Amino acid sequence: MSSFCCSFRFSMMLLGLLLASSLMAASAGDLNQDFIITWGNGRGQMLDNGQLLMLSLDNVSGSGFQSKNEFLFGRFDMQIKLVPGNSAGTVTTFYLSSQGDNHDEIDFEFLGNSSGDPYTVHTNVFSQGKGNREQQFKLWFDPTKGFHTYSILWNSQQIIFLVDKIPIREFTNRESEGVPYPHNQTMKIYSSLWDAENWATRGGLVKTNWTEAPFNTYYRNFNGNACVVSSIGVSSCDSNSKTSTSAVSNKTWQTQQLDSKGRRYLRWVQKNYMIYNYCTDYKRFSNGRPRECKRSKSH
Ligand SMILES: *[C@@H]1O[C@H](CO)[C@@H](O)[C@H](O)[C@H]1NC(C)=O
Ligand SMILES: *[C@@H]1O[C@H](CO)[C@@H](O)[C@H](O)[C@H]1NC(C)=O
Ligand SMILES: *[C@@H]1O[C@H](CO)[C@@H](O)[C@H](O)[C@H]1NC(C)=O
Ligand SMILES: *[C@@H]1O[C@H](CO)[C@@H](O)[C@H](O)[C@H]1NC(C)=O
Ligand SMILES: *[C@@H]1O[C@H](CO)[C@@H](O)[C@H](O)[C@H]1NC(C)=O
Repeated sequence: MSSFCCSFRFSMMLLGLLLASSLMAASAGDLNQDFIITWGNGRGQMLDNGQLLMLSLDNVSGSGFQSKNEFLFGRFDMQIKLVPGNSAGTVTTFYLSSQGDNHDEIDFEFLGNSSGDPYTVHTNVFSQGKGNREQQFKLWFDPTKGFHTYSILWNSQQIIFLVDKIPIREFTNRESEGVPYPHNQTMKIYSSLWDAENWATRGGLVKTNWTEAPFNTYYRNFNGNACVVSSIGVSSCDSNSKTSTSAVSNKTWQTQQLDSKGRRYLRWVQKNYMIYNYCTDYKRFSNGRPRECKRSKSH
């Protein structure tokens, strides 16, 4: 936390020295502003002056990056192009997580597949250390042919997962009914590309073909509007500086919820593209389904 404090102050000092025009230019999609590559021994790389980030996986290691800042609520949009061809055994993640015991986490995981077979988009929500809330989807496009936008909206009332702005999942705050909700632990953004051949593809039946390595995932055009929490516990939701790549801060996300069009899209995705929903896994929860799976009294 303290290193965050000081590097943030330092960059504020630097920003003060820069001209407004270069400040705008620096905020035009430079991933160096918001992220650091944390592991992979050179397999993760900033390219094109930070306009593009590449993660790479080979038979020795995967790689990953994380946000410089910690957040308490926000909306995070990232364009990602997934490993093409035979990506079986590989997993690309993009998620928010707090640290320590009883952590909170909001997950996107992209499970690779053999050439021509569809990726699986795996989602989960942990609150107070408890997950087991998986929903999985197929996509309505090939996520390896181009960049698509994957978003996590996290405000005090709901979490919404979106793909190209289409909501695929909603997790509503039902703390009043005793369902823990991520609301008081700051989270960072993390992303990684790693080998999960033991479970990722067809439950681990299809292994990674290492002769096709390295496997690469690409990122660009991050957009974040969020409340940044500093080491002294002060939260700023202005989204100026590093968290926001848009020139004007946009606070719509703080109260954003699904409107009727959003609900229609959500139903369309869930009807046509959902392949697993923990809420309907009656075998798994033979002692009764999780409370959030039952209809809310207030809705
Ligand atoms: C990893 O792959 C490289 C290149 O294909 C190969 O030379 C090397 O022996 C492999 N290493 C391991 C640990 O499998
Ligand atoms: C967060 O809130 C939960 C109740 O929802 C409580 O049990 C926990 O102690 C709180 N944690 C912190 C760090 O305040
Ligand atoms: C891979 O493709 C197969 C065949 O279509 C499918 O059953 C499976 O769910 C796909 N995804 C993964 C991650 O195995
Ligand atoms: C692995 O990939 C290589 C190169 O594409 C291919 O020749 C080989 O048949 C593949 N191995 C398996 C087990 O599919
Ligand atoms: C603000 O963000 C929302 C999504 O969170 C978007 O729909 C809206 O167009 C944005 N408004 C502006 C002015 O950028």
